[in-house]
Amino acid sequence: MQYGFFDDERREYVINNPRTPWPWINYLGNEDFFGLISNTAGGYAFYKDAKFRRLTRYRYNNVPTDSGGRYFYIREGETIWNPGWKPCKTELESYECRHGMGYTTLTGVHNGVKAELLFFVPLQTHGEVHKLTLTNQGSGVKRLQIFSFLEWALWNAATDMENFQRNFSTGEVEVEGSVIYHKTEYRERRNHYAFYSVNQPIDGFDTDRESFFGLYNGFDEPQAVMEGKPRNSVAHGWSPIASHCLEIELEPGESRELIFLFGYAENDPQEKWDNGGALNKRKAQEMIARFDSVEKVDNAFAVLRTYWDQLLGNFRVKTGEEKLDRMVNIWNQYQCMITFCFSRSASYFESGIGRGMGFRDSNQDLLGFVHQIPERARERIIDIASTQFPDGSCYHQYQPLTKKGNNEIGGGFNDDPLWLILGTTAYVKETGDFAILDQSVPFDNESGTEVPLFDHLTVSFDHVINHLGPHGLPLIGRADWNDCLNLNCFSDDPNESFQTTENRSEGSQAESLMIAGLFVVSGRDYVELCNRLGKNEEAARALHHVNRMVETVKQHGWDGEWFLRAYDYNGHKIGSKENIEGQIFIESNGWCSMAGIGQEEGMTEKALDAVKERLDCEHGIVLNNPPYTRYYIEYGEISSYPPGYKENAGIFCHNNPWVIIGETVLGRGDRAWEYFRKICPSYSEAISDLHKVEPYVYAQMIAGKDAFRPGEAKNSWLTGTAAWNFYTISQYILGIRTTYDGLIIDPCIPPEWEHFHVTRKFRDSTYHITVRNPEKKMKGVKAITLNGKLLSDNMIPIQPPGSECKVEVTL
Ligand code: BGC
Repeated sequence: MQYGFFDDERREYVINNPRTPWPWINYLGNEDFFGLISNTAGGYAFYKDAKFRRLTRYRYNNVPTDSGGRYFYIREGETIWNPGWKPCKTELESYECRHGMGYTTLTGVHNGVKAELLFFVPLQTHGEVHKLTLTNQGSGVKRLQIFSFLEWALWNAATDMENFQRNFSTGEVEVEGSVIYHKTEYRERRNHYAFYSVNQPIDGFDTDRESFFGLYNGFDEPQAVMEGKPRNSVAHGWSPIASHCLEIELEPGESRELIFLFGYAENDPQEKWDNGGALNKRKAQEMIARFDSVEKVDNAFAVLRTYWDQLLGNFRVKTGEEKLDRMVNIWNQYQCMITFCFSRSASYFESGIGRGMGFRDSNQDLLGFVHQIPERARERIIDIASTQFPDGSCYHQYQPLTKKGNNEIGGGFNDDPLWLILGTTAYVKETGDFAILDQSVPFDNESGTEVPLFDHLTVSFDHVINHLGPHGLPLIGRADWNDCLNLNCFSDDPNESFQTTENRSEGSQAESLMIAGLFVVSGRDYVELCNRLGKNEEAARALHHVNRMVETVKQHGWDGEWFLRAYDYNGHKIGSKENIEGQIFIESNGWCSMAGIGQEEGMTEKALDAVKERLDCEHGIVLNNPPYTRYYIEYGEISSYPPGYKENAGIFCHNNPWVIIGETVLGRGDRAWEYFRKICPSYSEAISDLHKVEPYVYAQMIAGKDAFRPGEAKNSWLTGTAAWNFYTISQYILGIRTTYDGLIIDPCIPPEWEHFHVTRKFRDSTYHITVRNPEKKMKGVKAITLNGKLLSDNMIPIQPPGSECKVEVTL
């Protein structure tokens, strides 16, 4: 069953049934001020950091789900309704939610009144605009009361939910004209505040939650609204909120537009107070003035839309597969930008408290968005590298507000350093900005420790060769990409976190074949970069280690039909036919195939055939098989999940592309495409009931074949799946690959594709690429012309900036 449809023209997903199987959300903002918003206006906002600067409250794990948000209550007579259906759930004559690029609209019609809401964060603005348009579609005069509603969070999302002996006393607000200010803790250590305004005089307000709702009422029955009487309450402690009340009269056919602005401002410590000793509101007033008319708001919205047109215009495809084209051209690229902004911190599955920016996550995200905003990719690389230690190890996560490594989680994930090589080389290939490699970057943000970024790559590479185990394979440390394969943890205490428990790596023999494959792939990237920089000796040294790893994998990492996954603490095999459960894993087979290890000997092909036979299912490729059916203390969290879920044989979408790229290395375009399509969300739209989460974005996990309900997805939006799938489709299936010296064109497609067309911006030029496949091939470029001239190989050299180039390719 479907709950809506794609409107590709407007780049929107249109939801026409509010009872989606799970809140279907969108993200607002792309620089500093961010919000999450559901199809019924649930959600919250924060400034830079979802933990340390939470602006409004949201209730995770609540009944009903998706409670708390930016609510507008419309009261007509005794009836109260919301344009987004919730929270009152009054039946609407029509409902529509449109999630677009950085904005969401909600339109509800009730008893001849149409209410349209537009939510967006204008560019370069630390605030959200909520534009409400009311239209009287009936034949009589309408007298309405409008109540806005936001609930303030007391800034730190974690303590906001636990330290009530303090929280219930600290809340402070101020009301001046139509602006409600939230200034809790401003008079002591904070120099920031939030505000909610409307661009016309109000007929009342509330800032105290209990006065507005009544102690025993929920979001669906605020007493002040039900009685039509704002209390003009001023919060002192307890739970501060912001609600404006406006009385509106509409003649038949008349429309009224109201502009609400929800903003955040920081004052310099010297300018905290105005001359009279009150909160200095200048910044709020300036922001309000920027959006105090419909015209100004409409202009800002048009600018936002143009901004997205440009971002998405850098890569466009036309294959004739509608569902694919809309993902590549719109939603997959959009999701890549969202993962860039949020890493894994705040979604409807991540409360924004436990996680900052992941070292490996953010590096992988780069693969997906570097072609859109290279300048910000540059800054991100520097931020990430600054959380590394001199020996190449690094913090697993850092906080976006401080950009400092997160001590609670620490480091010790031995794959982490290598992702910096992949992220950085992807950036340099895209931009040609070799100068970034000379930029001074500190270790652990300690000034005085700066070395050129290039040296960070060297210590990343060396971290692996300095931590090899008994077979000469990389030691796994706390875990590799699979955070839940905890081979040195041995936890039997449910109060311990698998992720942070001190691990027993001393004396451990736990080695990872996933890191081995990743080392070969990223190591070759490192070698290529060294060569490109004329560091030939370093290139030769590194190549030696890479080649040795290839041999080691063949010798100690091959199980006869596929690659092993790991050796455990005691040196026993994992991911081997010798095991009873967990005989084969996706990660090592994906990475070793991407690296083409043992291709001549037929290993890659065999490994991928084994993946097909044992891991593939209707909804995608599961992570391991057979799943673990009991807890193995020596494997950790992976075996704590019920079979078919998450890292225990779930379809962990993030790593399906590794197999897909492996298939393209072998030239099997049909299989690559079959796998790609299985996890591509637009292809699941018709089974939304089962799939549950948004059909326009990738989810981290789809329940696997061994699960209770195979095909049910979870953890949508913030997943490395976005970047990996974009990277895979653009660079390996469509085959337009960035290199230091130009674009390589090397498609690997299903034989039935007759042709496709890509427009790609690269280094300030635009390439219009047409690929024709008259002989129904899967791979192999037969002829290629650039502006009508035949090229000798499939590499298009960099063209002068500003060029428009025509590339014709025949397979
Ligand atoms: C984490 C990744 C990790 C993956 C697999 C995700 O939740 O963000 O860093 O690689 O899980 O465990």
